[in-house]
This record gives sequence, C-alpha cells and structure tokens, in this order.
Amino acid sequence: MSAAGRPGRGERIADWFDGRLGTHTLGRKYLRKVFPDHWSFLLGEICLYSFVVLVLTGVYLTLFFHPSMNEVTYQGSYTPLNGVRMSEAYASTLDISFDVRGGLLIRQLHHWAALVFVAGMLTHMMRHFFTGSFRKPREVNWLFGWLLLFLGLFEGLFGYSLPDDLLSGTGLRFVHGALLSVPIVGTYLAMFLFGGEFPGDDIVARFYSLHVLLIPGVMAALIVVHVLLVVYHKHTQFAGPGRTERNVVGAPFMPVYLAKAGGFFFLVFGVLALMAAVATINPVWSYGPYRADQVSTGAQPDWYLGFAEGLVRIMPGWEITLWGHTLVLGVFIPIVVFPLLLLFIGVYPFLEARFTGARHEHHLLDRPRNRPVRTGIGAAWISLYLVLLAGGGNDIVATRLHLSINTVTWAVRIAMFALPAAVFVVTRRICLGLQLRDRELVLHGRETGVIKRLPHGEYVEVHEPLDRARLHTLTAHERPPELVLRNEPDRTPEQSG
Ligand code: HEM
Ligand code: HEM
Repeated sequence: MSAAGRPGRGERIADWFDGRLGTHTLGRKYLRKVFPDHWSFLLGEICLYSFVVLVLTGVYLTLFFHPSMNEVTYQGSYTPLNGVRMSEAYASTLDISFDVRGGLLIRQLHHWAALVFVAGMLTHMMRHFFTGSFRKPREVNWLFGWLLLFLGLFEGLFGYSLPDDLLSGTGLRFVHGALLSVPIVGTYLAMFLFGGEFPGDDIVARFYSLHVLLIPGVMAALIVVHVLLVVYHKHTQFAGPGRTERNVVGAPFMPVYLAKAGGFFFLVFGVLALMAAVATINPVWSYGPYRADQVSTGAQPDWYLGFAEGLVRIMPGWEITLWGHTLVLGVFIPIVVFPLLLLFIGVYPFLEARFTGARHEHHLLDRPRNRPVRTGIGAAWISLYLVLLAGGGNDIVATRLHLSINTVTWAVRIAMFALPAAVFVVTRRICLGLQLRDRELVLHGRETGVIKRLPHGEYVEVHEPLDRARLHTLTAHERPPELVLRNEPDRTPEQSG
C-alpha cells in the first residue's frame, strides 16, 4: 500500500492477475509446499533439465536442418567431401557442423543431452524401484514415467537417424530388417514405414515429424502430468525422526527448493555444455553419407539401445519355413524379447502388489536392504541389461580384448542366463547380511575401537549406543504381517510331510 493508501504498482499487477487467474490462492497453497531433501531426488530434476536443453537445442537445429533425402552435390567448407553426392539431410548436418555459427556446439549439446537424459531416466527409475516409491498410490505415476522412458528410447533412435550418415543408415537398415521379420505383415510394415523399398525417399522426413513434433509433444504433456502427480500425491520420504506415513518433512518450495532447483538447472546445463565443448560426439563427416551398398565397421547404436542390438547379435540365426513363408526367428525372437524386458519393469508395481499382497498406501521409502527380493530382482535386471549391452558391442569387445567374436558371443549367451541368477542370489544374501549388521548395531551399538581389560583379565571392546535418531531410522522399516496359525488338528511328525 502506498503512503496515500492507494495500492502500489506491484500490488495492482498482482491483483489484476489474481482477479483473472486466481494466482494468490494457487500461490498460497502451492508455493509453500514442503519438499523433503535427499540427493537422489535430484535424478528426476536431471531428466527434466536435460529435456529442457534438448528442446532448446532441438529448436535451434530445426532452423538449419533440411529433412529431405533429395540428392545434392556437396560444396561446403568440409573439403574432403566436396563434390560427393549425398542427401540434403546429410549436407545440412555438415553445414550445421561447419558453417552455422555455434552449430557444432549445439549439435553436440543436443546429442550429449540425449545420452544424459536417458541415463538420468534409467537411474531415476531404478532409484524409485529400489526404494519402493512406486507402491500405492504412485503406480500410475510410475507408468507415466515408464512411458517417458519408452518414448525417450525411440525419440533418440529417430533423432540419430536424421543426419542420414553411414552410421545412422546402418541403424535404419537394422530397423528395416527387424520389421521384415514380423510374420505375415512384416513386408507390409516395412513398405509402409519406409514408403517403398529400402531406403526410399521418405524415411528422414517421416522420422523428422515424429522427432520434432509428435514425440516431444507427448513427452512434454506426460512430464507435466508426472510432476503434477508428484505434487498431488506429495513426495515420498525416507524414514527418520518425525517423519511418518502422514506428513512430509522438508523445506518449502518457495524460496528454498526453487533456489536450489534453479541453481541445479544451470549446473546441469553447464556440465552438458562443457561436455559438448570438449568431447566430440557423432562426427558424421568422418562416416560419410549413407549408401545402401556400404556399411561402417563397429556400427553401434547410442548406448541405451545397445541392449536391443545385443539381443539380435547373440541370437542364433534360426529360420523356419512354414507354408512357403520363411520365419526369421533369429531376428523376430529378439524384437519380441526387447519390449518384454522393458515391459517387465513397467508392470513390476502390479506384480509386487499381487505377490506380496501389500495393497495399502506407502509414503515412507524402503531401504533397499530391507527388501532383499526386490533389490535382488532390480540388480539382476540391471546385470541383464549390461550383459546385453556388451553383446551389442561384441565386435568391439572382441577386437579390443583380442578375442574371437564367437567366444564373446557364447560368453554373452551363457551370461545372459547365468549372471542375473547369480546376481539375484548374491544381492539377496548381501541385503540379509546388511540387515543382520543393522540388528547388531541397534542391539549392541557402534564399535568404538577402544579395547578394555576387565579386572579378571578378559578383554572386551567398548560399544557405544547409537543416537536416538539413528536408532529410529534403523528400526523404522515396515514389519511383515504376523503369520497366523490355521486352526488345524494336531499332527504327529509321521503324519506330516
Ligand atoms: C527427448 C528428446 C530428444 C532426444 C532424445 C533427441 C535426440 C536426438 C539425437 C540423438 C539426434 C542426433 C544428433 C546428431 O546429429 O548427432 C537428434 C537430432 C536432431 N534433433 Fe533431437 N532429440 C530430442 C528432442 C528434439 C526436439 C524437441 C527437437 C526440435 C524441436 C529436436 C530436433 C532435432 C533435429 C532438427 C535434429 C537433426 C539435426 C542434427 O542431427 O544435427 N530434437 N536428436
Ligand atoms: C522425462 C523423464 C522424467 C522426468 C522429467 C521425471 C521427473 C520427476 C521428478 C522431478 C520427480 C520428483 C523428484 C524425484 O523423486 O526425483 C519425479 C518423481 C517420480 N518419478 Fe519421474 N521423471 C521422469 C521419468 C521417470 C521414469 C522413467 C520413472 C519410472 C519408470 C519415473 C517414476 C517416478 C516416480 C514413481 C516418482 C514419484 C516419487 C515420489 O513421490 O517419491 N519417472 N519424477
């Protein structure tokens, strides 16, 4: 209020907006919203900020990229390719890299942000997996997140196919082969997507529309709903003094969380920009333009799709012929297993609720060691993903380690079954061991390293009781429901079993 009793300019502007948008009520309700504090909550923010970087850099790239497969003869600054015939898409990518101001930096920033984005999503997902935040009422939000991951994988694939270089063309050949292996409709699907015989003239333009419009649009909408649902459900928190299933302990959104989040955005942006400035990624000029009769050696997809490639590479080349039609099982089985692997993690919350019968609400997070089976399953899933990733680079592994490619392929074939099983058993045992250590700590306190000699000559180590906060944290896990004995007539040992 001004000295004359008239509201000041700021207050009048705020009033104007409040009268039309209800900003005051909304602000009062949500700006003081409490956010718990834990480093792992930053993983979701890394996904969010790298997505923002992708959109900003992507829009810049659209200003110069020509999504066309029309053939042109290159006459640009990169002299080794002068006079070479190539698609307009490839030529414009060379222009972005060599002639557009800041173009190479922005291209590299876009590509690095894409890699970090998917890595962020996978780590964020696994942190929610291991701590059980996907349980009721957050199963739907888990599914939204999972959908974001699924779309992100394809968004990346479509993106790196755009420059139409020899590497991305080899990837497209892979996609074409995968589609052809689908029984009955495979040829139709391939023709439909590529607009005719491979490689056709349309695929870059089609992927372009999907890449810059449809998928980012759907993803942006999903992210908004995902984050709104976090606000609606309230954030989960780790157990600790004063934290219960009914409250949230932390700092208010405004100003504490907003200041931290704002700073973190610039940190993520800065690190990505540094990576883009110092580390070359996807130097398409050195691969050359795509030609259907050529293939580059050591061709790899971006890391997040390496596991799908691994599935195909380690599969024996099985084929069967039925009623005059060839079924290419060597490709078809892997392309069925690839989504199933992801689907398992997507529907996991529902499987867990079904098998454990835990259908009530959870707002306190689990320590992974207190859920040995879930932790074991998560670790096994990650080990499978990594083994298949190694399979996707079997040629690189073989040449770098001077091994035969057959040895690497067989090692991956065996490891994809044996390793997850071993990882599950070992992780479960480690969790149980850690539980015992917690129990020891709670009951007998912390070892101080001080050895005391008792009057009768015995040596003992002095233990120090834990403080109350730590005691609370270590004992705050959910107890399994008591097992109730069924009212059965007594059985003698001979009768039982
Ligand atoms: C989730 C989001 C996205 C991911 C994962 C992603 C990923 C990629 C990748 C890996 C490339 C290849 C870059 C290279 O040449 O090395 C690419 C290219 C491209 N992206 Fe994206 N992108 C995303 C969002 C967007 C958005 C929102 C736009 C535009 C509005 C966009 C526009 C482009 C363009 C024009 C290219 C071709 C230019 C070039 O390759 O130099 N992208 N994208
Ligand atoms: C574009 C991708 C994504 C963005 C921008 C994003 C963003 C966020 C943010 C900012 C939060 C709150 C802070 C936190 O707990 O980390 C969150 C929570 C959550 N996210 Fe994501 N996320 C993405 C992908 C995923 C994926 C792939 C999954 C799992 C499949 C997932 C599952 C969840 C769950 C279950 C929560 C709620 C956690 C709670 O209330 O404690 N999100 N997400």
